[in-house]
Amino acid sequence: MQTVTTINELRQYLLPHRQAQQKIGLVPTMGNLHQGHLNLVSAALDHSDIVVTSIFVNPLQFGPNEDLASYPRTLDRDTEQLTKLGCHYLFAPGETELYGTNSSTQTLVQVPELSRLYCGVSRPGHFDGVTTVVSKLFNIVQPDIACFGLKDYQQFIIIESMVNDLAFPIELIGVEIAREESGLAMSSRNNYLSPQETEIAANLNRVLESIAAQIQQGARQFGPLQNQAIAELDSPGMQPDYFVICDAHSLLPAVDCTTHFAILAAATVGSTRLIDNVRFQLDSQ
Ligand code: PAF
Repeated sequence: MQTVTTINELRQYLLPHRQAQQKIGLVPTMGNLHQGHLNLVSAALDHSDIVVTSIFVNPLQFGPNEDLASYPRTLDRDTEQLTKLGCHYLFAPGETELYGTNSSTQTLVQVPELSRLYCGVSRPGHFDGVTTVVSKLFNIVQPDIACFGLKDYQQFIIIESMVNDLAFPIELIGVEIAREESGLAMSSRNNYLSPQETEIAANLNRVLESIAAQIQQGARQFGPLQNQAIAELDSPGMQPDYFVICDAHSLLPAVDCTTHFAILAAATVGSTRLIDNVRFQLDSQ
């Protein structure tokens, strides 16, 4: 695997692949790779000839009181894992390479409405940072396909909307959530949890699954179901942020005739904010 840190160099490496009509796949990440990320790279290898994984801890998507400084940076171990998997290029630019010396004057790409919902309420500006860096990576790499994890389901829908609105000629592939045996969704932020917090955190998925099962069995009182879920999550060690039952495409609150559901949840365990979701389609409607 070739590691590249500058935009020009990456473009030079990718040019012959493009000229040879090879399909290029991109996996944008912030590093500290776990099985969920490796699944993204495997999916990209399945769907393209040449895979570029980017590792960039994007300051634009962190709020002033968030964990930008302490976010785990494990480039050597990440490089080893990507090499073993057969990834072709690692793009690991520094902040100046992507944003110059003043990221606050950076042109922003914003997806309105969707970016203000749910995680956007607790993390104002977060999704603007995500769509800005992802569109920049799309322009640098010009991939044919790009793989994103479905744990960040709101992020996936926002990026899908951006790709449609800005006519990026890129096929998006959403890759299923990788989970621990307990059901806990894999996340780089799980590294912050103590063993006891890790046990508590698994409750997020249990409650999501239990509400999904009730809807699949015919429950349609979405408001009360959401309240029930919040009450179940609210416990010593866990503070729920939101729990919403919505339409899987629009992310608007589910209504009686909704058939494709996404249930999205966020909660803080100790001082770590975690997100998770379940998605399903009702068979007979
Ligand atoms: O999902 C992530 O890890 C990040 O939000 C992304 C897409 C790499 C943008 O920084």
